[in-house]
Amino acid sequence: MTQVFPSLLAADFLRLANEVASISMADGIHLDIMDGVFVPNISFGPGVVEAVRRVTRLPLHSHLMIVEPWKYLERFKAAGSDLITVHLETIGSSPKIFDDIKKLDAQAGLTFNPDTSVSASYAFLPFVDQALIMSVFPGFGGQKFLPESLARIEELAEHREREGLSFSIAIDGGIGRSNAGAAISAGADLLVAGTSVFGAVDRAKAIDELRAAT
Ligand code: DX5
Ligand code: ZN
Repeated sequence: MTQVFPSLLAADFLRLANEVASISMADGIHLDIMDGVFVPNISFGPGVVEAVRRVTRLPLHSHLMIVEPWKYLERFKAAGSDLITVHLETIGSSPKIFDDIKKLDAQAGLTFNPDTSVSASYAFLPFVDQALIMSVFPGFGGQKFLPESLARIEELAEHREREGLSFSIAIDGGIGRSNAGAAISAGADLLVAGTSVFGAVDRAKAIDELRAAT
């Protein structure tokens, strides 16, 4: 079954507890951490993750769009992250950071930008629990899905099959009713969706529709 992780970036931050309660039927929550250096925007840090952790038992996935992510792993784990995903563009050539994440008893994820080749991820994939393909350039919610992302999901799914690997494939950016089905058919196991979930009046329905999209 496809998993749906609403991105909290699109929530009303003044009503965070209610917003989190409104997506209790989701499979988990996606938390976008932006530092204003790796991406041209600043969002929130471990303090907000910790506040969210206090009001939900859903898995929390922290998407670190920050430089030098190794400096902050412990803090995001202590704040309650179940999975921490770091950008390929920020980690150099060693897979050590994934071991560091696992040693903290969190799941490890690798994310990559739309202009990073899928094959650049191959050396890291044996060490990760999840690979997250960005289907927009990171930094902002509400952007348009880049259609070439579908072929990138397929490429990654074929590689996983060929190599007998078991990481899950997630897609993030511009996901909604119109493209969720195509992303799932291409091989996505997990959909991150901000605007299309928090922009809906009936969030349970929005989440169900994404999960069941064909
Ligand atoms: C973009 C973030 C995404 C974003 C998704 O930098 O990583 O997770 O919040 O939001 P939507 O679904 O609105 O594109
Ligand atoms: Zn994200």
